[in-house]
Amino acid sequence: MPHVPVMLKESLEIFEGRNLSLFFDGTLGAGGFAKALLKAHPEIKTYYGCDQDEEALGIAKEHLKEFEGKVEFVHANFRNVRELLEERGVSQVDGFFLTWECHPCN
Ligand SMILES: C[S@@+](CC[C@H](N)C(=O)[O-])C[C@H]1O[C@@H](n2cnc3c(N)ncnc32)[C@H](O)[C@@H]1O
Repeated sequence: MPHVPVMLKESLEIFEGRNLSLFFDGTLGAGGFAKALLKAHPEIKTYYGCDQDEEALGIAKEHLKEFEGKVEFVHANFRNVRELLEERGVSQVDGFFLTWECHPCN
């Protein structure tokens, strides 16, 4: 699993200048983007880090240790985002992010 997220700079630019309190990341992976966004936006109160792969969540937990208490790790498919947020009493978030699988070409 790559620890260097693709198009990180461009992804961060999307949220530049925005006040983020609640954030949903549907493809947390190793948490590379999450770490960069949490550093750039210290105002984030809760970062929902969702991934369907338990192993990825384990890696992300290690990688995001410094943000303990801010990140809620969610083992689920992001297609259930509405239910996942409703269960947590959240009706809307300030930011939502999905990445896609990227396999390097030879
Ligand atoms: C390229 S990695 C994400 C990289 C991550 N954003 C980062 O910056 O480190 C893609 C991740 O999406 C997860 N994933 C793919 N489809 C998913 C789905 N429908 N629901 C939840 N997670 C999914 C995979 O398990 C994988 O961990």
